[in-house]
Amino acid sequence: MDGNGRWAVQRGQPRVSGHLAGARTARALVRTAQERGVEVLTLYAFSADNWRRPRREVAALMRLFRRYLLSETEQCVANGVRLTILGRRDRLAPELVHAIEGAEAATRQGTSLHVRVAVDYSGRDAILRAAAVATPADLTRDAFGALLARIDHDTAEALPVDLLIRTGGERRLSDFLLWECAYAELAFVPVMWPDFDAAHFDAALEDYARRQRRFGGVGDEPPAHALSG
Ligand code: FPP
Repeated sequence: MDGNGRWAVQRGQPRVSGHLAGARTARALVRTAQERGVEVLTLYAFSADNWRRPRREVAALMRLFRRYLLSETEQCVANGVRLTILGRRDRLAPELVHAIEGAEAATRQGTSLHVRVAVDYSGRDAILRAAAVATPADLTRDAFGALLARIDHDTAEALPVDLLIRTGGERRLSDFLLWECAYAELAFVPVMWPDFDAAHFDAALEDYARRQRRFGGVGDEPPAHALSG
């Protein structure tokens, strides 16, 4: 969800109002993704390196995450959306962790769309933490992927990324789901996140549908993550 800060500054507003607008975009995209039949939507809300931002911006973002969880849970339950948060929790305020646990418990039965919000997330740190507790049985692609999902409190199964959409004009991964993005298709959409709408999403999905995914092979083979070893 890149570009909130610049979107606000371009309008002479404080960066935080860009995050507010970004939260509205996230809400709308959840609805659109559900209508399009997407099964899993992961939103990168706060990286482990975002703690380096000014204290006021970090505090505003943490308040916004909690408000988002509290305000969206009911709608998610009504629409069959499962909400989970991936990332570390030991550096989050207890009231935010409480809101996370409440939202996850309330939406656990959702089967229509799984929305994951990454907060205090780092792909490299997740791999290191999983490696530190891995047993020999965990050292296959499938088992290690599942361990990674569990280590970040997220899901019981590995969730390889099919399509990664980056907004804001940047063209980098920024430590996002590094293991899970092994065969992700990449889409770079040069609009600021608050301006990202259903038409941009549809265009990215259409472009994705035209790509031929070979997973290192030449055609009709199973995806690499399904192979063992
Ligand atoms: C990146 O833009 C965005 C963030 C670090 C925060 C994203 C958070 C939200 C949209 C609010 C809450 C949403 C949910 C789903 C809980 P940036 O600040 O790096 O913008 P810039 O690149 O223009 O500086």
